[in-house]
Amino acid sequence: MSGLVSFHDYSAQASRFREDVLQGLSQPRKILVPKYFYDEVGSALFEAICALPEYYPTRTELALMQSHAADMARCLGKRSALIEFGSGVSRKSRLLIEATQPCVYVPIDIACETLRTAAESLNRAFPDLPVVAVCADYSAAFELPSLERFGARRRAMYFPGSTIGNFDPDEAVAFLARLVKLAGAGGGLVIGVDLRKDKAMLEAAYDDPPGVTAAFNLNLLARINRELEADFDLRQFRHRAVYSEVRGRVEMHLESLRDQVVRIGSTSISFRSGETIHTENSYKYSVPEFQALAACAGFTARRCWVDDGGLFSIHYMEC
Ligand code: AVI
Repeated sequence: MSGLVSFHDYSAQASRFREDVLQGLSQPRKILVPKYFYDEVGSALFEAICALPEYYPTRTELALMQSHAADMARCLGKRSALIEFGSGVSRKSRLLIEATQPCVYVPIDIACETLRTAAESLNRAFPDLPVVAVCADYSAAFELPSLERFGARRRAMYFPGSTIGNFDPDEAVAFLARLVKLAGAGGGLVIGVDLRKDKAMLEAAYDDPPGVTAAFNLNLLARINRELEADFDLRQFRHRAVYSEVRGRVEMHLESLRDQVVRIGSTSISFRSGETIHTENSYKYSVPEFQALAACAGFTARRCWVDDGGLFSIHYMEC
């Protein structure tokens, strides 16, 4: 990698995988934290989800970015420090990089190898752009490396993909409030937010016929087997995705297909037939709902772009 790319690995410090798994599976209603989907296998499965015809968010958001990147760049201004949360392969950010010409790009992701590969490929595409790649769990508090030397005019943050929907609303407010602090007065945020819509369309997006989302969900159990000396039998669990209109969220679960006992290290966990592990929520918001939520965190909504089908929104907000 060129001298313009630096890599900061804060992932080991933050790893509480075993504690979180054991704690989540000892609740009366079993849960697992969705950030653990994204090991290297899970990140690759997520990329495959993004290419599915049923999973409309990725292509819809990308098309919005392609149509409105210049407009977004006018909002964000040039020569900023562009900080992206959950950057993955940095596909959408390339459009913002081209349009805003930041003085430094800071991709933050929990999947270190994916991040490293993305940083290398960005360096080939933008050889003059300094890249400060940070491998970290951005849902928890962490310090950014110093960015002073780049002399940015402002901090511009980018949080695409509707990943904000994977936080419960109170966690989303707390997370956005941290972004307000991180960017400081005058900072800006471009954020992708999936919109409320028809139940059938949502459930198809989270339970596709080829079973890619099922594999993504079940990989969480495979990861626990790989990393925590566990013996989940993946054939004895099935993927479920249900949209609750009242709560405005798609819930993903793994349902036990029989009474069974699973070992994780020296701990035994019992499952009844039909009992589920709640693995993810994906909240959907109307435009005014999301603007109100972000206002609770200290953001002022300035612009919003929505596709003609009313499927997905991208907001520009200021601190
Ligand atoms: C990353 N996140 C926004 C995805 C979503 O749509 O909630 C994760 C996902 N889960 C199942 N399919 C995609």
